[in-house]
Amino acid sequence: MSPRTEIAAAPSDLLEYIGSSADAIELVDHIDWTRLPRQIAVIMDGNGRWAGQRDLPRIEGHRAGISAVREVVETAARAGIGALTLYAFSVENWKRPQSEIDALMELLKEYLARELPMLLKHSIRFNAIGRLDGLPMKVQRDVRAATVATAANTGMRFVIALNYGGRSEIIDALRGVMADVAAGKIEAAEIDEDRLCEYLYTHDLPELDLLIRTSGELRVSNFLLYQIAYAEIWVTEKLWPDFRRLDLLRAIVDFQRRERRYGSVEAGDA
Ligand code: FPP
Repeated sequence: MSPRTEIAAAPSDLLEYIGSSADAIELVDHIDWTRLPRQIAVIMDGNGRWAGQRDLPRIEGHRAGISAVREVVETAARAGIGALTLYAFSVENWKRPQSEIDALMELLKEYLARELPMLLKHSIRFNAIGRLDGLPMKVQRDVRAATVATAANTGMRFVIALNYGGRSEIIDALRGVMADVAAGKIEAAEIDEDRLCEYLYTHDLPELDLLIRTSGELRVSNFLLYQIAYAEIWVTEKLWPDFRRLDLLRAIVDFQRRERRYGSVEAGDA
């Protein structure tokens, strides 16, 4: 990596958290702090394989994945990312063994209870997206409590996708649009890309700039299908429980190296 020339200072809050290893210093040096991704979304994959490699039950992979969640949330917030969206449970995940589903729901509840002080300390505003009414009541209750407890926070938006599917989200948005057209609140002719976005679960989040996937799989897995239209995709071979603070910074450095053309051509190429 060749050093950049004009550098806005890295947030001191972040430097304190990531330490001063040579890797950390080099990464921080290569980030343009004025051009961070507005929203980062993550497909956290590989928990089962991580556990399998250690002859552990799959749930131990999910438990280890919680440490990665903790580090990534805090790193993103301290770095000044606008929003971080994590894919924790898809509409397809109900096909997993009931014991794994129960354990995942339990981990989620434990996570929310344990991490609330950290969310408040960093003024992180939490909410969940997905068909939340399909979740166990006790999970719905805890998600709602954490949402309310952090509602006045003004820092990073932290979103967990639960019972989430990209196609379901588009269907839910269409149902919302159709209901409003039927009620005379909007005209069908008014529907364009921006109007449709207002009906997505993510309507109040910044633009999704970077999608990260762990464990080397090159799939989108029904995540944020509408929102990824122009997102950069960054895939790492690392399994989710091994993903750490500096990995998030690596993804940001790579994101900033890419040239985003949104379908146009480079000046001079025309
Ligand atoms: C994918 O790995 C991971 C999941 C389906 C669940 C992710 C959940 C957590 C990290 C814990 C709870 C989350 C939060 C936000 C508190 P996999 O099981 O499909 O792994 P594999 O492909 O190796 O089998």
